[in-house]
Amino acid sequence: MFFKRLNQDLTAFCSRDPAATSKLHVLLLYPGLHALLLHRLAHRLWRMHLRFPALFIAFLSRFLTNIEIHPAATIQEGLVIDHGSGLVIGETTIIGKHCTLYQNVTLGGIAPSINTASQKNRQRHPHLHDYVIIGAGAQVLGAITIGTGARIGANAVVTNNVKPHTTVVGIPAKPIKHTPQKTAPDFQPYALTTDTQKDDKKAR
Ligand SMILES: CC(C)(COP(=O)(O)OP(=O)(O)OC[C@H]1O[C@@H](n2cnc3c(N)ncnc32)[C@H](O)[C@@H]1OP(=O)(O)O)[C@@H](O)C(=O)NCCC(=O)NCCS
Repeated sequence: MFFKRLNQDLTAFCSRDPAATSKLHVLLLYPGLHALLLHRLAHRLWRMHLRFPALFIAFLSRFLTNIEIHPAATIQEGLVIDHGSGLVIGETTIIGKHCTLYQNVTLGGIAPSINTASQKNRQRHPHLHDYVIIGAGAQVLGAITIGTGARIGANAVVTNNVKPHTTVVGIPAKPIKHTPQKTAPDFQPYALTTDTQKDDKKAR
């Protein structure tokens, strides 16, 4: 099970990063993959209510990779974190299948107008549906929904829901494109989602 899933991860990284030369290089040298593997362990501990060990693994992972993922965050299969430096994924974030995140992305909470204590145990972070791609430096804030196949441009600031198969850019983020609905939308710069889906399936 572990090795099958690892192979799927390696295939996903190789198919979505044109700079990836081999699975071995990805396994040994890609902080995005290391952060993902450590998160799986931390998340498992968190669900067993082993809070300190879970947070400690997350702390260690941030130290090693410069990627911060809260152990409670829910991440489904096929996530690729490309580069990843400066990436932050908050506690109540939900990430669907086959999403792609670049460096310096924040999936964070938005400044609450009410006190912090009342925000505990509430959904405060984004919910990404499947095949979402978030460009470098984008800030996606609040308990918002990013629809299937949506693309967030580099450096965008997103505080409202994004419809499926829509591309948004800028501050505040505004739609520039809505492509006809299909399972795996194309992604020109770097993440060729259609090929990715095929390659990911082959590894299963
Ligand atoms: C948003 C994005 C997905 C759009 O790609 P696309 O669908 O090919 O769109 P285009 O390049 O045709 O651009 C459409 C318009 O949006 C503008 N635009 C594109 N990306 C933008 C961005 N991040 N911020 C602001 N405007 C942007 C373009 O200038 C263009 O404007 P125009 O119509 O006035 O000429 C892409 O530009 C992007 O930001 N990808 C993220 C890449 C990334 O993070 N790479 C990191 C690699 S390490």
